[in-house]
Amino acid sequence: THEPLVLGIETSCDETGIGIVRGRTLLSNTIASSMDEHARYGGVVPEVAARAHLEALQPAIEAALAEAQVSLSDLDAVAVTSGPGLAGALMVGVGAAKALAVSLDKPLYAVNHLVGHIAADILTGDEVEYPTVALLVSGGHTSLLLVRDLVSDVELLGETMDDAAGEAFDKIARILGLPYPGGPEIDKAAATGDPQTIRFPRGMSRASDMAEHRYDFSFSGLKTAVARWVEQREAAGEPVSVPDVAASFREAVVDVLVTKALDACARHDVPRLLLGGGVIANKRLRDVALERAQAAGVAVRIPPLSLCTDNGAMIAALASELIMSGRPASTLAFGADSTLPV
Ligand code: KG4
Ligand code: ZN
Repeated sequence: THEPLVLGIETSCDETGIGIVRGRTLLSNTIASSMDEHARYGGVVPEVAARAHLEALQPAIEAALAEAQVSLSDLDAVAVTSGPGLAGALMVGVGAAKALAVSLDKPLYAVNHLVGHIAADILTGDEVEYPTVALLVSGGHTSLLLVRDLVSDVELLGETMDDAAGEAFDKIARILGLPYPGGPEIDKAAATGDPQTIRFPRGMSRASDMAEHRYDFSFSGLKTAVARWVEQREAAGEPVSVPDVAASFREAVVDVLVTKALDACARHDVPRLLLGGGVIANKRLRDVALERAQAAGVAVRIPPLSLCTDNGAMIAALASELIMSGRPASTLAFGADSTLPV
């Protein structure tokens, strides 16, 4: 079968990702991040992200083509994230992709960002098997999905009702006086802390939540609990051990993520779990997932971090699968859809 050469554009949050694949082979994965520009605001600022994409796109496309040693005219198709994500940021990528496809007279594929995260796994070169449960955790999303078939059957089991997991790390870091992005900082602090010090709440895990929200997540209660704990300590003039709070907080997040993911595997009788998103950088999360999955007879797949964080290669990979399965291209009528369902 013909292996299409696809360029993928990802601009749903603060990473400008350009990836090029041929069939299931990764040729380049170029990422420009505007993270530094958001640092002083303590979170991603949509307008800043959109403008940064506009500036980064052209050089990122050129770098990706050079790395893959192909030219624009070689491409068989252009792919782009059309949602979900930040509306303005998505719009820049969608506009660029349309311009590229029209000017090159190539087919254009609009794809879903979350399904793209799942497609990243294909680029590892290992045999991928379905069905699988997928847990996607980043600064922008926390979603649990059941993938029976990548191109035709992806079901959203649950997602966060408030903050994303990475966002929770970022907010707790702020409470503890640590810099943005908070994930790596909390991780560092937690290394010398005792996770048993404080039993923070596991959101959406009460029996009363389990009917309707079995696979949904909530981190705002946890955030409030940490803030209150720190305030009470300080008001009483007692010392706050940042490592202990960080370790206890991290344990609560990791526990609820892994418990729900493995519960989904068990209930759907799926012996596979795929992890994705920037929070996968958290070693405690990977360790606990691997340990508990092994005990449950579930095989865990964790692509390299460069494919877990937002990137264009996963978008190109998904479009490549769509093309190889005979899907027609998108018409130019689509737009950015910040709440695009899977
Ligand atoms: O996927 P990603 O790179 O980008 C977006 O969400 O757009 O994820 C970034 C998020 C941030 O919230 C960051 O704090 C979190 O992932 N993160 C971590 C770690 N490294 C990054 N969270 C927990 N532990 C980490 N080691
Ligand atoms: Zn993402």
